[in-house]
Amino acid sequence: MNKVVSCKTNPILGRFVPPGDKSISHRALMFGALAKGTSRFSHFLEADDCLRTMKAFRDMGVSIEHGPGSGNVVVHGVGLQGLKKPVQELDFGNSGTSMRLMLGILAGQNFEATLIGDDSLSSRPMKRVTQPLKQMGAQIKGRDKGNFAPLSIRGGKLNGIRFENKLSSAQVKSAILLAGLFAEGETSVEELIASRDHTERFLESCGAIFQKSGTETKVQRTQELQSFQMEIPGDISSAAFFITGAAMIPGSELVVEKICLNPTRTGVLEVLKRMGAEIRIEQTQDKPEPLGRLEVKGKKLVGTRIVKQEIPSLIDELPILMTAMALAQGESLISGAEELRVKETDRIHSMVKNLTAVGGHIQELPDGCLIRGVEKFQGRKVQSLGDHRTAMSMAIATLAMEGALEIEDVDCVRTSFPDFFAEFDRLRGV
Ligand code: S3P
Repeated sequence: MNKVVSCKTNPILGRFVPPGDKSISHRALMFGALAKGTSRFSHFLEADDCLRTMKAFRDMGVSIEHGPGSGNVVVHGVGLQGLKKPVQELDFGNSGTSMRLMLGILAGQNFEATLIGDDSLSSRPMKRVTQPLKQMGAQIKGRDKGNFAPLSIRGGKLNGIRFENKLSSAQVKSAILLAGLFAEGETSVEELIASRDHTERFLESCGAIFQKSGTETKVQRTQELQSFQMEIPGDISSAAFFITGAAMIPGSELVVEKICLNPTRTGVLEVLKRMGAEIRIEQTQDKPEPLGRLEVKGKKLVGTRIVKQEIPSLIDELPILMTAMALAQGESLISGAEELRVKETDRIHSMVKNLTAVGGHIQELPDGCLIRGVEKFQGRKVQSLGDHRTAMSMAIATLAMEGALEIEDVDCVRTSFPDFFAEFDRLRGV
């Protein structure tokens, strides 16, 4: 479906509770399924990606209670050895997190399974996960030596490895740590730039034999995981669209409640503050995940630089930060962000192309982009390229646009934020 978004220079005003965090929702299902006993969680993200993970566990015999629309989920865990061979292929749709983390879990199972995805997921690199899992002892087959789905995996006897996470990918780290629960000896992952640590937090709270020292995380074969209860915090990656929209439009006043403030995820707030944004942060909870409240007031932002060291803490927020930079006063530079090229689409290219189409001054670089801010965008037709975050980043651009913007193929927002357009209209008073 295409969508014409009217361009209103209205500020963003009001209160917003972000949908449940996508990364934590996937992991809550995974740890709930592998634990012994019943886990309960609320504010689960009812978006396509997480529902794929849920369906895959049901296909492997896990009983999961979920009343659609409630956000409440009850998982009757089957234990680390209790999954059953699925009778059909496990279909992960657009979801890279589901496929990569599930490969880690399946590496420890005594059966064979086939994993498939949509065109975008089938063209995303999987070798980063399949190679270390093969090294641990899993048998994995797929196109280009196990680099692309469809993938078939036969788990079995695994041995621990020491792995250096050069890509700073939380998905890779998590797949290896999950496989490590089933492996003989110790499995360790070292990372020089820290990626999101939700898996480690679950390992700790579910009682895995797990240790974190400095830049290294170690896990050992674990007999039993404990069940848990939690309220899933709001997703900062979804909230980032309205936080950035509010921060860059003078007159805006936005309050965000129950937002995840895990420091491995809050890079977007640091960058916006460097750009001059007025953001007040109040943390109200520390464990199992830091959580809190934000107050954002809008003003004209100024350009900044984002460097490699901070990329993992804001990897999913780069498209919306590119929108803000394209409107900020002066020059901005993003470097060290080559991982953006292998997301749901090549997000450096999709955002450069779309922001240029609406009048932005932006130059594509191999690992990022160079941006010179403009006062206003011009409404045109742009393409999401099937990527939810590209679609939402362009929708936010309409807050400073003349004319009307037509976004081709907006259905993709359902992968992470099905209510995005309704919430956007409410907050900008349309
Ligand atoms: C995720 C990690 C990130 C992120 C993705 C979710 C996760 O990917 O882009 O949306 O839940 O672990 P990488 O770790 O591959 O960078």
